[in-house]
Amino acid sequence: MKRINVLFVCLGNICRSPMAEFYFRHIVAKAGLESSIEVASAAVSSEEQGNPVYPNARKKLAEYGIGCNGKRACKITQSMYDVSDYVIAMESSNLSGIRRVVSPNSHTVLSLLLDYVKSDNPSFCRNVADPWYTRDFDKAWNDITLGCDALLDYIREKHRL
Ligand code: 4NP
Repeated sequence: MKRINVLFVCLGNICRSPMAEFYFRHIVAKAGLESSIEVASAAVSSEEQGNPVYPNARKKLAEYGIGCNGKRACKITQSMYDVSDYVIAMESSNLSGIRRVVSPNSHTVLSLLLDYVKSDNPSFCRNVADPWYTRDFDKAWNDITLGCDALLDYIREKHRL
């Protein structure tokens, strides 16, 4: 069976999208789905290219026993986009950022992480708060884990995994 490719994207690829990538890998492994779902992350900007995961984000992952050794920030490319089934942005400005760097195609689903969270609250914010500016890594982590759990449920149902 063809693997499902999921690519998380944020501005720098050192805070939010790596937390999403490694948390998602963790829950995919827990569900025994490593052979079915491939996970990666990338940036919209080239600002942090080659840099490791930011210490506060690394610390947050480590609190849950999740490592991220070897991850280096990289910028999204057209081929990364085209091989992805799901490109998942952390906030709406990332969507326009992605469209500036790559051309959309007809098969890749481009969406916001928090689009997968069901909420009846009309003021529910669909953007993962940027901890680079807020310094609130706990809030970002809560949004990311909520979104990733909902995304995995969606993919499992959609692809009958
Ligand atoms: P990220 O956080 O997009 O979650 O990786 C940021 C990292 C770096 C910058 C902004 C956000 N920056 O402006 O350098």
